[in-house]
Amino acid sequence: MTTPDLFAPEPDEAALMAQLRQTLHEHAHRYYVLDAPTIPDAEYDRMFRQLQALEARHPELITPDSPTQRVGGKVLDQFAQVRHALPMLSIRTETDTQASGAENFDARIRRELGLTDVDPALEYVAEPKFDGLAMSLRFEHGVLVQAATRGDGEVGEDVTQNSRTIGQIPLSLPAGVPTVLEVRGEVYMRRDDFEALNDKQRSLGQKTFVNPRNAAAGAVRQLDPAIAARRPLSFFAYGVGEVTPPDAGGPVWQTHFDLLQTLKSWGFPVSSLVKIVHGAAELVAYYESIGQQRDGLGFDIDGVVYKVNSLSLQSQLGFVTREPRWAVAHKFPAQEMLTTVLAIDVQVGRTGKLTPVAKLAPVFVGGVTVTNATLHNEDEARRKDVRVGDTVIVRRAGDVIPEVVSVLLDKRVDDPAIFTMPRHCPVCGSAAVREEGEADYRCTGGLFCSAQRKQAILHFAQRRAVEVEGLGDKLVDQMVDAGIINTLPDLYRLGFTALANLARMAEKSAQNILDALEKSKQTTLPRFLFGLGIRHVGEATAKALARHFGKLDPIMDASEEELLAVADVGPIVAKSIRTFFDQAHNREVVEQLRACGVNWLEGEPAPVAAQPLSGQTFVLTGTLPTLGREEAKALIEAAGGKVAGSVSKKTSYVVAGAEAGSKLDRAQELGVAVVDEAGLKELLDGGA
Ligand code: IVH
Repeated sequence: MTTPDLFAPEPDEAALMAQLRQTLHEHAHRYYVLDAPTIPDAEYDRMFRQLQALEARHPELITPDSPTQRVGGKVLDQFAQVRHALPMLSIRTETDTQASGAENFDARIRRELGLTDVDPALEYVAEPKFDGLAMSLRFEHGVLVQAATRGDGEVGEDVTQNSRTIGQIPLSLPAGVPTVLEVRGEVYMRRDDFEALNDKQRSLGQKTFVNPRNAAAGAVRQLDPAIAARRPLSFFAYGVGEVTPPDAGGPVWQTHFDLLQTLKSWGFPVSSLVKIVHGAAELVAYYESIGQQRDGLGFDIDGVVYKVNSLSLQSQLGFVTREPRWAVAHKFPAQEMLTTVLAIDVQVGRTGKLTPVAKLAPVFVGGVTVTNATLHNEDEARRKDVRVGDTVIVRRAGDVIPEVVSVLLDKRVDDPAIFTMPRHCPVCGSAAVREEGEADYRCTGGLFCSAQRKQAILHFAQRRAVEVEGLGDKLVDQMVDAGIINTLPDLYRLGFTALANLARMAEKSAQNILDALEKSKQTTLPRFLFGLGIRHVGEATAKALARHFGKLDPIMDASEEELLAVADVGPIVAKSIRTFFDQAHNREVVEQLRACGVNWLEGEPAPVAAQPLSGQTFVLTGTLPTLGREEAKALIEAAGGKVAGSVSKKTSYVVAGAEAGSKLDRAQELGVAVVDEAGLKELLDGGA
């Protein structure tokens, strides 16, 4: 029995659904690929829900490219096998991490093409070698119909459902693309997404991922697409498989670079680090330049790939077994290496947090020599079961602190003791406790603990707080150990003799420290607040508090509710601030610092009205024509904006002046808006 009359869609509804799909696609592309959304998230969500509601009424009208199909899907028992229409090749690897790696490739290609020294330099495309996993995406009539892993190159696994959860992969393409189009590229996880995922796993007491590549591979091969959807993945296109008809969609590609530009225009992410270069010298320069940028990239790469740009030369060069003759991968030094654990120390942080740290036999990894690696906390150390004497894999990627990834159990000799967290602070002997629901042990000694005292003093004296130039960790160790400083105000009571009597302290240096201390007395409220070292109060929160209240006393006396009214202050931060100022000894420290002459200009509470730049983050680079850096920063902050040191997806604007450096490149790479001084002034005045 059918009831077509009741349930058949109104013609308008079908059209509306098509239109919603189209609009949502456009905005998803702006959001995920261009990193430049033009509508608020809430508006996207509203349209998305509207489409979902229509699809619930008319499931027969759900198309595979509907944005709603990115989430959900059924749990699989196993992945189906997919035979690739064209095999997915691998590339020859050049492991020589010297410039000669690039020179060898150029020489080989020239020889194979029969070129001599008088012939001009060859044109290549140089690309990063992304450290993720290869994926082939098959579009038919412009709709994503299948995604497959590389497998053995001939047969891979059908991971279509999971690929649809990746926001950067388009589900449908503009009109006019080839009837069959296979796009090949790398699925990977950004470092910030990886760190956030592991933090979350740790806080849930679940297993952490070894590196972004494993996390990405695990997500792609996750049988439950709902879990895959929660793992943040990204994609870069670097080539094509089957394309039929080969010259459809406009351009008949002459070069690999053209092909990538076309893919980009169809909505695929193509790295802006992909460059055309000529001859061996430029290949070498590219290798070195990318090597220098490697740590600062938002994602892992393990080398670069060189490809002959001309597609006709590519076919002339052909293949040897599974590897094309026209491409080579040139590796960077490894980011993971083997070494042995010499000891496991426990370090005490400023807030008393105890961190187990593996002392390692020195090893060169990710471009630097590493001797320490964090084990994070007791659970993590136990989960990885790191013991003294073990052979371990250490990893250092980007600016992240080196980590022990795993232990090679078959290399363990004898049966070394399992690591246990001490129940007493290794520095002051106070009880170490682990609060329920927390992963960390903390020393309960507070400022009685000399390790915490030292850290607290260093924190207060650092450049971003009141800044006492020349007061480094060695000197603080000496002063605390000699008993001449116990609390922060003691810093300002230091006499020349006490300082000059410290070992290895020349009179001149003693005087310099006293001068620096004197200078540090004139500070600002945000610097002072940050310097106090209140848990969860970083620089940004200190600035927000200062802006909101204007003066210190109202902050010290504010209730949790009043604190919650400050932008960026949530319940945990509010509670921490309240607890800090509820301690008589902390108020006493503040009073004594003021009595010693530490001072700042107090202001008026900020008006509650939204400021022109609130919620926006700026990065300054280069020299501006009239504004100094500090001046520009102050103006931005006074207008409610934030100033950050590095460019990320979340940056709203990069303000670029003369001789702008890599931050400008980074902005262009991420599609972050760039303004000059005039543009900044317009924004400050409330212009868009
Ligand atoms: S091109 C015929 N380009 O490296 C060449 N591969 O063995 C086909 N990879 O697992 C690959 N970045 O997933 C190419 N820019 C890039 C790449 C890249 C990473 C991976 C690829 C494959 C391996 C090549």
